[in-house]
Amino acid sequence: MNLKHIAIFASGQGSNAAKIIEHFNHHAFIKISLIVTNNPKAKIIELAQQSGIPFHLTNKEEFFSEPSIVSLLQYHQINFIVLAGFLLKIPASLIQAYSNQIINIHPALLPKFGGKGMYGIHVHEAVIKAGEKESGITIHYVNEEVDKGNIIFQEKCNVEVGETAESLSQKVRELEHMHYSNIIEQCMAQ
Ligand code: GRF
Repeated sequence: MNLKHIAIFASGQGSNAAKIIEHFNHHAFIKISLIVTNNPKAKIIELAQQSGIPFHLTNKEEFFSEPSIVSLLQYHQINFIVLAGFLLKIPASLIQAYSNQIINIHPALLPKFGGKGMYGIHVHEAVIKAGEKESGITIHYVNEEVDKGNIIFQEKCNVEVGETAESLSQKVRELEHMHYSNIIEQCMAQ
């Protein structure tokens, strides 16, 4: 089977990216071949250096200008893009070039608690404020509308009485680490 190449896009702590890199280390046909970040302080840069994975530090101006970073992705023979806490909107040219080949993970049960401003702790605060009894994770394809692409997978967790945004964030993060790599693998086997 031909090797398939993934690019991970991440802006923050990079805990999901770390799990994904670990999962695909020495995989038979999937390789993490590029890391893209827009945050010069992102932990993922350190991780990329330690793991010997090429990384590209971008910025808003470059990311949204044409030609887009599609040529960089093509240079690295990228087949599939995994967003793991990447905070820039994906430009239309990139979505078209990688139609149904870009996935994202969201820390709530979409279509609820998605869209503009719904990232990080804000999501969990909104879930608790709404009095939800359940939250969870959603893994979905990326289209031109933020958090609205087709859903691939969801997993739930309970929101307990007295739950805080921080404790919920922890629970949800555990679900993310448990499932994201396996779902990526399933999507790439299709
Ligand atoms: C995760 O909660 C993910 O759902 C969201 O961004 C967060 C990234 O966390 N899209 P980390 O940087 O992987 O720790």
